[in-house]
Amino acid sequence: MSVMHLSKPSSRIELDGIAKRFGDNSVLHDLNLSIEPGEFVVLLGPSGCGKSTLLRLIAGLEEPSAGRIRIGPRDVTDFPPRRRDVAMVFQSYALYAHLSVADNISFPLRMRDLPWYYEVPVLSGMMPAARERKRSHREQAVKAAEAVGMQHLLHRKPRELSGGQRQRVALARAMIHDPSVFLMDEPLSNLDAQLRSHTRAEIIRLHQRLKRTFIYVTHDQVEAMTMGTRVIVMNQGRIQQDGTPDDLYDAPANAFVAGFVGSPAINLIPAQPAAEGFAINGHVLPGSVQYRAAMGAAQLPRSLTLGIRPEYLRIGDQGMPAQIELVERLGTEQVVTLQAHGAPLRVKLDSEVRYRAGDRVNVSLDWSRVHLFDTEGGGRIETCRGQTRSLKEKFA
Ligand SMILES: Nc1ncnc2c1ncn2[C@@H]1O[C@H](COP(=O)(O)OP(=O)(O)OP(=O)(O)O)[C@@H](O)[C@H]1O
Ligand SMILES: [Mg+2]
Repeated sequence: MSVMHLSKPSSRIELDGIAKRFGDNSVLHDLNLSIEPGEFVVLLGPSGCGKSTLLRLIAGLEEPSAGRIRIGPRDVTDFPPRRRDVAMVFQSYALYAHLSVADNISFPLRMRDLPWYYEVPVLSGMMPAARERKRSHREQAVKAAEAVGMQHLLHRKPRELSGGQRQRVALARAMIHDPSVFLMDEPLSNLDAQLRSHTRAEIIRLHQRLKRTFIYVTHDQVEAMTMGTRVIVMNQGRIQQDGTPDDLYDAPANAFVAGFVGSPAINLIPAQPAAEGFAINGHVLPGSVQYRAAMGAAQLPRSLTLGIRPEYLRIGDQGMPAQIELVERLGTEQVVTLQAHGAPLRVKLDSEVRYRAGDRVNVSLDWSRVHLFDTEGGGRIETCRGQTRSLKEKFA
C-alpha cells in the first residue's frame, strides 16, 4: 500500500442523530450529516461551538452520547480509531521531538506492523522480515514526503523545522496510511498569513490528487469560503447552514450565519413593519414600501432584523440622512461607518471619494440585496427567500 496508489474508493460519512455531553455540558445536539465520498467539506464556526468534538467523534477519539456514525459501508460507532480508516491532522502537529522527519512520517506504519522489540537495532538486525518492513516503511515515508515537498529534510528533527514544514510532516504522516478519510482540525492556524494561503492551496491540490473524503475544520470564514465547495456552519453544537459559499453569502439561513460570514460584516439592523414598509427607530425607510409590496402578503413578525452587506449600501444624494463617524481606507477600497436614524451602518466602496468623519451624507440600500430575519428566532423570513429572485428582477 502506498500513498500514490488509488486502489480503494473514498468513503461516505454519515452521522445520524449524534449528540455529545461532557458531564451535564451538552456540546453537540442531534446532528445529522451526510458527506459524499471524495467530498471536501469545511466545518466553520466560532470557538467552542463543537467543531473539534465532532471531528474527534468521527476519528473515534471520543464516544458519542447518542447516535450512530457510519464510514463507508460500516457502522463504526463502536470501532476504535485504528479500525476507522481515517487520519487526523491537528493544529498542534503532534510530532515526536526525538524522531526524524522520516520516522515521524512512517510512525503509524511502524505502530501497525512492528512489535516493540523490532525497534531494538540489535534484534531487528537479526530479523530479515523486520529489515524488509523497515525498508518498505522508509520508501513510503519518502513518497509521502515528496508529496508535500519535504523529501530533502528527511533526517531533520521537528525542532529544526519551521512551522510550515512541521505542518507538512503532519500532513505526510496522515497520508502514509492511505486513509479513505482525512480529518483536519485547524491545521494552518499556527502559520503566518502568507504561508497559510500557500498551504491552503496545497491542501486543495492534495485533495484533488488523492480524491479522498476531507473534513476541514476552521473558525476562519475567509479560509472556509475560499477552500470549501461545501461549508457547514455550526454554532452552539448545532448546524446552522449547510451549503456552498455562495449560498451562505447570498442566502444566509439566519442572522447568525449572515453575521459570521463576510468581511466587513453584514449590517444587521433592528426594524419594524410600519406604514406599508419597514421602519428603523420610527423612520420609514425609503424604498421599503415598494419592497414590501413586491413581497406580497407575507406574514411578518413584529420585530425584524434587516440584513444588508456593506457593499450594497450607497452614499449619494438620495436615501437616509447620515453622518460619517469613521473612515477606514484599505488601498483601492474604503469602509465608512456612519449613523443613520440612530443605527450604525458600514458601507464599503471604492476609495475615489475622500470622506471625513463628521461629513453629512445620504445613504441608500440596494433593496434587491436585503435579507430579512425574524429577530426572535433569528431565522430567515422564508416568504422573502422564495421571492428573492423576483425581487432581484424587480429591483435590479
Ligand atoms: N474533554 C472535555 N471535557 C469537557 N468539556 C469539553 C471537552 N472537550 C470539549 N469540551 C467543551 O465542549 C465545547 C466544544 O469544544 P470544541 O473543542 O469542540 O470547540 P471548537 O469548536 O473546536 O472550538 P475552537 O475553535 O476553540 O477549537 C466547549 O465548550 C468545550 O469547553
Ligand atoms: Mg477546536
